[in-house]
Amino acid sequence: MSRTRVHNFSISLDGFATGEGLSVDAPFGHAGHRLHEWMTATRFWHGLGVVEQGEGAAGSTGADNAFAERHEHGIGAEIMGAGKFGPPGWQDDAEWRGWWGENPPFHTPTFVLTHRPRPSLPMEGGTTFHFLDASPAEALDTAREAAAGLDVRIGGGPTVVRDFLAAGLVDHLHVVQVPILLGRGVRLWDGLESLEQGYAVEAVSTPSGVTHLTFTR
Ligand SMILES: NC(=O)c1ccc[n+]([C@@H]2O[C@H](COP(=O)([O-])OP(=O)(O)OC[C@H]3O[C@@H](n4cnc5c(N)ncnc54)[C@H](OP(=O)(O)O)[C@@H]3O)[C@@H](O)[C@H]2O)c1
Repeated sequence: MSRTRVHNFSISLDGFATGEGLSVDAPFGHAGHRLHEWMTATRFWHGLGVVEQGEGAAGSTGADNAFAERHEHGIGAEIMGAGKFGPPGWQDDAEWRGWWGENPPFHTPTFVLTHRPRPSLPMEGGTTFHFLDASPAEALDTAREAAAGLDVRIGGGPTVVRDFLAAGLVDHLHVVQVPILLGRGVRLWDGLESLEQGYAVEAVSTPSGVTHLTFTR
């Protein structure tokens, strides 16, 4: 059975998954890169092709890397929100093709939920962006069909992950609690009271200072 999974979803201690003031120069607003420093240090991240050749070492191979790598395995499609695909207002820019260059690190059909859909965008490396105005359940049906028996990843941002959790559509949630306080931005947990009761919850803290929380149905 194809499962619905969230991986490497990073939040501050006060529950924010992005900051305020999102723009093309600040994809996480005032949070900067602080939510993902644990991940950009890993071999997983270096292997995605988003780090320039020769930049830094080959990445860490410890516990953070072991969690991070699970993002890739057995995934046949991703669903993301309009807020992950681009900065506020990208829908007015006919040339916007996402943050990730011509070879995005998804390599599967990738469904962007938006109230202003546009024609599909085939990229290099197996990623095609499809734009959908649909409920979470409808979007999941479409993504499952495209995933051909593999799992569907819900890639964020927080609004979309929260909506899929609220609709009871997430089978596995990996949240990384980063020891910073953002104070403002978009929260993950709002409106999800007692969510944990539907899941087996495990927590592992790693030497980098983050806590990996997994919620598994
Ligand atoms: N912390 C992490 O690990 C992580 C991971 C991924 C992304 N992020 C960050 O999260 C931020 C974006 O998160 P966000 O919560 O602002 O936005 P988001 O969850 O990416 O997208 C929400 C938007 O998607 C569209 N949408 C959502 N559901 C829809 C539906 N059912 N039908 C049609 N359209 C729908 C709507 O946009 P429109 O009405 O404009 O179409 C909605 O405002 C960015 O800063 C990104 O970098 C963080």
